[in-house]
Amino acid sequence: MNTFETLFGTPPQASASAAGRVNLLGEHTDYQGGFVLPTAIPQRLTVELGRNGTQEHVLHSLSSGQTLRVPLGEKGEGFAPYLVGCFQLSGVQEGLNALISGNVPSGGLSSSAALEVATLRALRGLYGLELNDVDLALRGVQVEHEFVGVKCGVMDQMASSLADTQTMLLIDTRSLERRSVPFPAGAEVLVIDSGVPRRLAESGYNQRRAEVEEAARQLGVKELRDVTDLAAVETLPEPLRARARHVVSENARVLRGLQADAAEFGQLMNASHASLRDDYAVSHPKVDELVNLLQAQPSVYGARMTGAGFGGAVVALVRVGQAAAVAQAVIAEFGNDAVQLVP
Ligand code: GLA
Repeated sequence: MNTFETLFGTPPQASASAAGRVNLLGEHTDYQGGFVLPTAIPQRLTVELGRNGTQEHVLHSLSSGQTLRVPLGEKGEGFAPYLVGCFQLSGVQEGLNALISGNVPSGGLSSSAALEVATLRALRGLYGLELNDVDLALRGVQVEHEFVGVKCGVMDQMASSLADTQTMLLIDTRSLERRSVPFPAGAEVLVIDSGVPRRLAESGYNQRRAEVEEAARQLGVKELRDVTDLAAVETLPEPLRARARHVVSENARVLRGLQADAAEFGQLMNASHASLRDDYAVSHPKVDELVNLLQAQPSVYGARMTGAGFGGAVVALVRVGQAAAVAQAVIAEFGNDAVQLVP
């Protein structure tokens, strides 16, 4: 008997999983029509579903051990809105049992998008929904906006739905055009969870989004994607000037990264971190410390915070074969419950 059957008394009727992601370049650009360059990570979340014949959803998370009961028509609390949002936007009108399991840590690696994409894939299987992988990602984004209250962009759900672990996925977040891009030759990706809990991630995120929308409005453009000349943002008042400078320079870094060798790509990652720390103000002193330790390692090409920020994970580009040794050295110095997640 699997755990679902032990918990609910019947086997699941549908099951699906989805990967977390790590973003290499292009942070906080995806709600201004910009470019992003994520890759999937091996860690995944799985959602199993079954009809329960009642008027409420019963949702269990294996990692927290929590069971939440949500009557039809309500959205619930805690992790419930992520699933219930997927149910409601997919037209589910009956009680479902759900079991969440997996190993995507929370904090910068898109555990929420993985949860939405896994849930929507399981629903697609259960109800035969006609939903392609892009529609599915966009429905996940709608769940964040309408049920979770985070005004996120499209990167995480697109990456969870469409990226693989072997390449980076360049996404134009305005047109949703995308293509696979190889990692720079001779390099591998290292991801470390700093162990710093994220604070103010949701409120800080929505505030940044409002700031750059205001910056675009003052510059008379639809989105900051339309600004390529950095001089233009210098006319803005602070803090809009610094916020816009980050977005405009970050878009340029992504495009530059497409041609870069490992050394140059690493420099772009370092510059991205400085910009997120100083202009976008979404880093955290402990995360900066971890990034500095990584950047000081001879076999590291570059390192930066990844994801929304305010704590969470960091990503480094490392000489191939050196990631484990780098992680060991850096974590020993940093402490703070940091753990190596990739490779
Ligand atoms: C979060 C959001 C994404 C993106 C990143 C920052 O992960 O969900 O849409 O904005 O932050 O790049």
